[in-house]
Amino acid sequence: MRTYLVTGGAGFIGSNYIHYMFRKYGDEIKIINVDALTYAGNLENLKDIEDRDNYVFVKADITDKAAIAAIFAENDIDRVVHFAAESHVDRSIKNPEVFVQTNVLGTAVMLNCAKAAWELPDGSFKEGKKFLHVSTDEVYGSLENEGEYFYETTPYDPHSPYSASKASSDMLVKAYMDTYKFPANITNCSNNYGPYQFPEKLIPLIINNALQGRNLPVYGDGKNVRDWLYVEDHAKAIDMVQEQGRLFETYNIGGHNEKQNIEIIEIIIETLQEQLSEDDPRKALVSKDLITYVADRKGHDRRYAIAPDKIKAEIGWEPETMFKEGIKKTIKWYFEHEDWMKNVTSGDYQNYYAEMYQ
Ligand code: NAD
Ligand code: TYD
Repeated sequence: MRTYLVTGGAGFIGSNYIHYMFRKYGDEIKIINVDALTYAGNLENLKDIEDRDNYVFVKADITDKAAIAAIFAENDIDRVVHFAAESHVDRSIKNPEVFVQTNVLGTAVMLNCAKAAWELPDGSFKEGKKFLHVSTDEVYGSLENEGEYFYETTPYDPHSPYSASKASSDMLVKAYMDTYKFPANITNCSNNYGPYQFPEKLIPLIINNALQGRNLPVYGDGKNVRDWLYVEDHAKAIDMVQEQGRLFETYNIGGHNEKQNIEIIEIIIETLQEQLSEDDPRKALVSKDLITYVADRKGHDRRYAIAPDKIKAEIGWEPETMFKEGIKKTIKWYFEHEDWMKNVTSGDYQNYYAEMYQ
């Protein structure tokens, strides 16, 4: 039975990954989820699996060396899947320090504790142990011209404090691999969407606002391009890289699905209008008239686009969920989880929203 240490498993991608892994492996694996439960962490995301005998939650901060070392001391960890991070670009622009703290220092602590637990006296590592660092395509910077793509060999050129902190954490993982032959992989993925995403990110924010007849804020000219991947496809890719990928390699993960922000917003509005029944009072609220152009994000990257050629050629992974289908499933999930949205948008979220958008 393999034991996984998942960091940040109460967040958006981490919780989807944990669901995916239990669906795939059932009782063949054990998962220990360590999460500090920041504003982005939510145990409600894991309600349906929390009673499993092969699941354990530990509330701890990844920068807390003693807490992380204790998890390694008390468990024979086979796999680390490292999601925990501060993940929102706008927050990084307002408050960069916590991004350095969690994303850089936290990754250093995770690497060091895993190395200490897995290293043998001769400097090699225990058989079969693996660390996967989950990163982003934003480390490669911004593409200006059509037809250009991010490859694993593209030089790093981060612009936001978020992407700079993720790039730094990637470099630390690379340094551990190069210096110690530490058994790791890095994955750099494009923008994810799907269930359990916190409504500070574009897609859930637009769904939530549209259903309440609130303005839909579009930064700048709305023509910035992101490559969107359904979160379950990302979870599958992470597992495939860890089990079938070559150690020490980086794999880019992308959706072959580039869209301008304004296109995304229009698709969401159209899908909402299709899905809401005639007698639903929210139907009258959802309208393109809500689209509101607002001041641009500082240093706003123009275009991200991943070429997921290597992961396809070496591992056979490809995105499976077409955007049309993925966005329908996502919107349906938000319809069916109104309480989840109410809970995460009460309290602090109101202050965040007011400060950010007014
Ligand atoms: P998220 O913000 O939804 O979740 C982050 C989780 O980490 C939360 O549960 C939070 O409580 C936890 N956390 C934060 N600081 C912590 C700390 N100091 N100690 C322990 N736990 C802490 O993020 P997400 O969107 O799920 O992203 C997960 C990872 O994937 C991140 O590393 C991010 O950089 C990367 N990524 C995200 C995307 C995307 O589109 N969301 C795309 C590519 C890569
Ligand atoms: P976001 O979901 O924050 O992801 P990232 O910045 O990491 O790509 O934003 C996606 C795109 O949507 C990005 O170009 C910024 C834009 N955006 C808006 O236009 N309005 C908004 O309210 C938000 C949150 C994002």
